[in-house]
Amino acid sequence: PKVTYIEASGAEHFVDAPTGLSAMEVAIDNSIPGIDGDCGGQAACATCHVFVDEAWSEEVGGPSAHEAQMLELAEGAQQNSRLACQINFRSDWDGLVLRMPAAQF
Ligand code: FES
Repeated sequence: PKVTYIEASGAEHFVDAPTGLSAMEVAIDNSIPGIDGDCGGQAACATCHVFVDEAWSEEVGGPSAHEAQMLELAEGAQQNSRLACQINFRSDWDGLVLRMPAAQF
């Protein structure tokens, strides 16, 4: 799907993301700043914290119980926070917008 990552600075990155890859993997593959993914996608570091655009939060869904615990460690976590490594892109997610928190720069 065609997705947009927006840095805390407002810089936008448009990516044609392969279906099935995680939002963390795609950010790393495209050298998008603001998502570190230190733990390699194990939901264990919270350096891939993103905010899901409000219009998409229902479609993308909320965090698992373990993910929610990790998000408690993420600075500035909100209702629409997710770990990017736990979001796997679906083919019909064209237009999805993810925002990176200022704390991750
Ligand atoms: Fe570590 Fe997502 S990459 S929690």
